[in-house]
Amino acid sequence: FEVEWDADASDKGGWSSFMAKEINEQADAVGNTLRGRISSAGVEIPELTALGDDRLREIDRIIIIACGTASYAGHVGSYAIEQWARVPVEVQLSHEFRYRDPVLSDRTLVISVSQSGETMDTLMAVKYAIERGVTTISVCNTQSATIPRESDAAVYTHAGPEVAVASTKAFVAQITAIYLIGLHLARVRGTFSAEEQTRAVEQFEALPAKVAEAIETRDQIAQLAHWMADTRSVLFLGRHVGYPIALEGALKLKEIAYIHAEGFAAGELKHGPIALIDHGQPVFVLVPSPRTSPIMHSKVVSNIQEIRARGARVIAVVEKGDTAVLPYADDVVRLPLADTLFEPLLQVIPLQWFALELSTAKGLDVDQPRNLAKSVTVE
Ligand code: G6P
Repeated sequence: FEVEWDADASDKGGWSSFMAKEINEQADAVGNTLRGRISSAGVEIPELTALGDDRLREIDRIIIIACGTASYAGHVGSYAIEQWARVPVEVQLSHEFRYRDPVLSDRTLVISVSQSGETMDTLMAVKYAIERGVTTISVCNTQSATIPRESDAAVYTHAGPEVAVASTKAFVAQITAIYLIGLHLARVRGTFSAEEQTRAVEQFEALPAKVAEAIETRDQIAQLAHWMADTRSVLFLGRHVGYPIALEGALKLKEIAYIHAEGFAAGELKHGPIALIDHGQPVFVLVPSPRTSPIMHSKVVSNIQEIRARGARVIAVVEKGDTAVLPYADDVVRLPLADTLFEPLLQVIPLQWFALELSTAKGLDVDQPRNLAKSVTVE
């Protein structure tokens, strides 16, 4: 008597794919990355304390380096670090960084972001920075990988092993870790009031439950993807921290559904991309909160009106209770309420489901997309 046992299916924990399993694990990924680093007293990352507060106070410029999805996590994080710690932050693709002869000094901080910690482009960029006397922090999901070992400090994300080629839970954990670095810097540098610190900690504490709620959008998104299985192009619009989420939504669709997709900063629409809008063109719009960013909200609602008037099919991703978009949207995806900087951690989830469901509707292999590797260890 033999029991049939499918190792692959058991690893997936009953899910149809590793990607579906990993999307579903995102509340834990965020919660585990926060653990031991936030308290009512604020944010403290022991690994950064070891660097010395004086060194962190002297930093006058931060460069985040990464590739792919990790670079979009860095892009989201750049808004938060700059706002909280009042240091200029820029994001550069690892493979571009080295060859531009960057201006670096001993007051520059380089933060690398890599799920695997082995991406050759990012490793070479980190080594280049180290050779020039720059302080380096690695945000990494893989214990003892090469990049965190080479760096001055490692802030691990605790998303757990990620198997699907398209990154999901590592992405939300990366944003979480970069935000924690921003809050640690803000505390050390004295750029944050006690009230602001408390507010950010409250937002973090409420986050895992909100992420779990955002994961519930799957059924609605699956229906949308089913109707859109023949779509040849999808556009994504976002503003502020919604902009890198638009880029990430487009990347996911390219990676696993092989569909032409582009993300744009919503304000850039009138400077070119609006020419792409034709009858039936699907456009996902990430709408900022009307409560915490009313001006950006009204600008994005105007963008929606402009593209709708030109025939776009608008899928608006909004916070619950935002009714301003209802007259102009074909579909509305509702997410829990969060402050502006925390919205990306929720907004990305329906976009991940959309890529997965569209890929599935096209009969593709969600976990192993053609031509891609989980970790690219060549330059
Ligand atoms: C590859 C993967 C992407 C990933 C990128 C960076 O291209 O296919 O999903 O975002 O590498 O990987 P890293 O391990 O450095 O985060």
